Amino acid sequence: MASGRDSGGMNILILGGGGREHALAWAVKQNPKTDRLIVAPGNAGIALLAECADIDILDSAAVVAFCEENAIDFLIIGPEAPLAAGVADATRAAGILTFGPSAAAARLEASKAFTKEICDACGAPTAAWARFADAAAARAHVLARGAPIVIKADGLAAGKGVVVAATEAEALAALDDMFGGSFGAAGAEVVIEEFMAGEEASFFVLTDGVTCLPLGTAQDHKRAFDGDTGPNTGGMGAYSPAPVLTDDLVAQVMAQIVRPTMAEMARRGTPYQGVLYVGLMIDGGAARLVEYNARFGDPECQVLMMRLGAQALDLMLACAEGRLAETGVNWACDHALTVVLATRGYPGPCPKGSVIAGLEALPEDSFHMVFHAGTAEAEGQIIATGGRVLTVTARGDTLAQAQARAYAMVDRIDWPEGFCRRDIGWRAL
Ligand code: AMP
Ligand code: GLY
Repeated sequence: MASGRDSGGMNILILGGGGREHALAWAVKQNPKTDRLIVAPGNAGIALLAECADIDILDSAAVVAFCEENAIDFLIIGPEAPLAAGVADATRAAGILTFGPSAAAARLEASKAFTKEICDACGAPTAAWARFADAAAARAHVLARGAPIVIKADGLAAGKGVVVAATEAEALAALDDMFGGSFGAAGAEVVIEEFMAGEEASFFVLTDGVTCLPLGTAQDHKRAFDGDTGPNTGGMGAYSPAPVLTDDLVAQVMAQIVRPTMAEMARRGTPYQGVLYVGLMIDGGAARLVEYNARFGDPECQVLMMRLGAQALDLMLACAEGRLAETGVNWACDHALTVVLATRGYPGPCPKGSVIAGLEALPEDSFHMVFHAGTAEAEGQIIATGGRVLTVTARGDTLAQAQARAYAMVDRIDWPEGFCRRDIGWRAL
């Protein structure tokens, strides 16, 4: 089988089909090492720069077979579901160079209780917690602790398994919901946490199991509407860097949270390899862990990729090949900001199929990109296929310039069925 690598360039497969994967594909494509780029399943925006392949990305055997048939030199796994399903274990066992943690290491995202146990074992600062498989004991705990309090389904729940309860009644209702089966097996066990006040920020670290390399900081806006009001979403916009994460705080987080966690994972025989998303709460000059994710954030990935450009591929390769100790990140003094355009109704149910016009007239360069999150092509037009549909991303010398550039693009998109927040970045401006 001819490898793309032997002929000079690499054949690269990215799993996923959201804005995160569009941004990954955009950055990878700019690197001259890339020969053939395939994204599975991809979307209408990704199809403009890569081949899209229709494979079941949760089916390890199907992914391995596809990699072998297409002489894939490097596999990048975007979302958490294939990681939790063990796709990285299968591809590595088949000798395919893979970016993304094993299923055992991805438990840092897939089980909230597991993450809390690891924090306890390595002394990483986080909210006080308790786990319950029994509804009556969980209710008693809520009544003993009082509100505000945080209720979490243990397992993966597509970002919906967390309730920050302002009152005891809300907390008890969340317990009823979770033990009542709203989240299926993910809610069979529930974690109850102390409420942490403060400002949230995300920190991204590459780790090859031994070396940890800080990759960048970002902040996202989780509420649907301006002024951080309305329901929680997967994220309505993001910017990088996050000024709240000062160099001193990053050093504290590396020393107290990231390195101890990675050492504990290695000690248990399940070293973590890939990108670690470190969700932090910052209060009174100190950071505590909110959560880990085993992947890039979406839409945080879009702003990170906009800033990293082609070197993102070199960094992910160094991570997968265990060469991070000899690798560094070249940061420019720049800022990136992304605005999510969502179908009206999101995060609730939203209609599919509305037509989005005006995209072809927008600039596409290293300062401006519209990354598609939920789109398809139908009869030559771009249509919306879900809640979060586009992530309009720009880079500038200042955050204000990046914001102005992003909203100038937003204003040229003709999509009456869509909405966005008009204040992404406000906290840092
Ligand atoms: P998670 O999926 O664990 O990140 O939780 C989703 C969101 O809930 C986080 O981004 C926070 O905004 C919030 N959250 C989670 N845990 C806590 C906590 N212990 N205290 C305050 N807010 C929290
Ligand atoms: N934007 C938050 C996440 O990707 O989980």
